[in-house]
Amino acid sequence: MRRLVLAMPGNEAFAQRLAACLGAAPARLEWRRFPDGESYVRLVDDVAGAHVVVVCTLADPDPQILSLIYAARTARDLGAVRLTLVAPYLSYMRQDKAFRKGEAVSSKYFAELISAHFDDLVTVDPHLHRYKDLSDIYTIPARALRAAPLIGAWVSGNVAQPLIVGPDEESEQWASEIADGCDAPFAVLRKQRSGDREVRVTLPDMSRWQGRQPVLVDDIASSGRTLIEAAQVLRAAGFPPPVCIVVHAVFAPGACRDLSQVAARIASTDTIAHDSNEISVAPLIREGLMTAPEK
Ligand code: R5P
Repeated sequence: MRRLVLAMPGNEAFAQRLAACLGAAPARLEWRRFPDGESYVRLVDDVAGAHVVVVCTLADPDPQILSLIYAARTARDLGAVRLTLVAPYLSYMRQDKAFRKGEAVSSKYFAELISAHFDDLVTVDPHLHRYKDLSDIYTIPARALRAAPLIGAWVSGNVAQPLIVGPDEESEQWASEIADGCDAPFAVLRKQRSGDREVRVTLPDMSRWQGRQPVLVDDIASSGRTLIEAAQVLRAAGFPPPVCIVVHAVFAPGACRDLSQVAARIASTDTIAHDSNEISVAPLIREGLMTAPEK
């Protein structure tokens, strides 16, 4: 089936890398805001009979979601046979329960919305915490690809004598896989979060790894406080400033600048466009698309 790659606004560079990996043609989108703030969406190219791969990373989902749904509906109306959403960063995964009475479980509602408009979903390292699998909330086939092998290869090529460090228990899954990929030891720290920007990190005994270069790895940096606190306790324990690597460079305003004060180097994958991007997940997504069952 003819495959076309459609970039939502802001996703053009990544979509171009993906289209190059896939050897697929782009499907052009015309998009603008009307003076009243509503969105205008037009598909320029013929999508009839095609598999349309819609690329939209969802780091700031609210301003994008309606246009994304309009693009999907338009493609469907114009005869697209299959619609795949490639969301290198998948939003709304962290509100996975009602922590307080009356709270919206937005992860579930967001999954329902995407499932209603696409045939399948491909993403990278979604924040799976209370959910074990995307199928817990997505009713369409949803593939979660892992960036750890790419990060492990990057560490091998860029860091001598690495010690992979996960800043909290949740990060053990990435830390162990990345450590495997670059043949390095790994350690996992403990984190207590008491607010959006209030984080306390403590270290186990790490004296046997003195002399190694710590490489902090996490799925997301948002306020950056997790990595900043982890970097500071590593320094206090006698380690050099860490290399910090995240899959998703969400980085709130000022967060990356603050992190750079305590890090030797900051690197990220290109699931979200950011100055720190050093590792492209486009080849990984290509693999995910090529091995997905045909509809
Ligand atoms: C949370 O458990 C995640 O794995 C990250 O550690 C967290 O989202 C990072 O957030 P921040 O940069 O705001 O500390």
